[in-house]
Amino acid sequence: MSESITIKSPREIEIMRQAAKIAAGARSAGRQAIRDGLTTRQINKAVHEYIVKNGAKPSCLGYEGFPAAACVSVNDEVIHGIPGRRIVRNGDIVSVDLCATYRGFVGDCAGTWAVGEVSEEAKRLIEATRQAFFEGIKFAKVGYRINDISAAVQDYVESHGFSVVRDFVGHGIGRGMHEAPEVPNYRPERGHPNPRLVKGMTICVEPMVCAGDWHVEILKDGWTVVSADHSLTAHYENTILITDGEPEILTMADDI
Ligand code: MF3
Ligand code: CO
Repeated sequence: MSESITIKSPREIEIMRQAAKIAAGARSAGRQAIRDGLTTRQINKAVHEYIVKNGAKPSCLGYEGFPAAACVSVNDEVIHGIPGRRIVRNGDIVSVDLCATYRGFVGDCAGTWAVGEVSEEAKRLIEATRQAFFEGIKFAKVGYRINDISAAVQDYVESHGFSVVRDFVGHGIGRGMHEAPEVPNYRPERGHPNPRLVKGMTICVEPMVCAGDWHVEILKDGWTVVSADHSLTAHYENTILITDGEPEILTMADDI
């Protein structure tokens, strides 16, 4: 994580928009590849091909040794699932998270979708996670601070009886996939940095939500983060731009 928050110039913002648009398209391609009987590797392939076809680079591939373009995480897997031979089945919920680098800037987004018919709890979890993002970004504007976003996400999630992951957080983004500041999904301890939001900041707001307890574990593969109680989990993320008014959701798409 770089030390200080970068404020993007209008020219840089234009490139961020393009990078984010490719990331959003790749997420849609991933979503469309989620079907009963397909492997997580096939979902990754759809994401990877979309990114490359659009002239961008899959930034996750090789990032700290991560072996794929997309993180594909199933059911109790919260984030950083490694695509492989696992077959997704009717009743599963699948999260796809990816980054695309275009002309030196990164777009980052994620979402969780149902395979066929899923439980009522799974549906509620997916919808609450998505809506928590929108509750959070009501405060993503000049005049507020990072913690205002965090608190809104946490309160919304907990009001639905779910919990927010503490061990992983949202982040600034730009030339780096992870820049300052951290964007937690919970009220941080006293003394944690709580910067003011400034026009030209680009950040990723990304609720990671557990149906049960918020504690997580990392599997032996060194990447996959699962809920410790193996309850269902969901993730929703967009790259956003802070403006004078409403935030601009740079990775927005019709189908998410
Ligand atoms: N969107 C993820 C994040 O913000 C990207 C992870 S890429 C990986 O952490 F390579 F670390 F998996
Ligand atoms: Co992210």
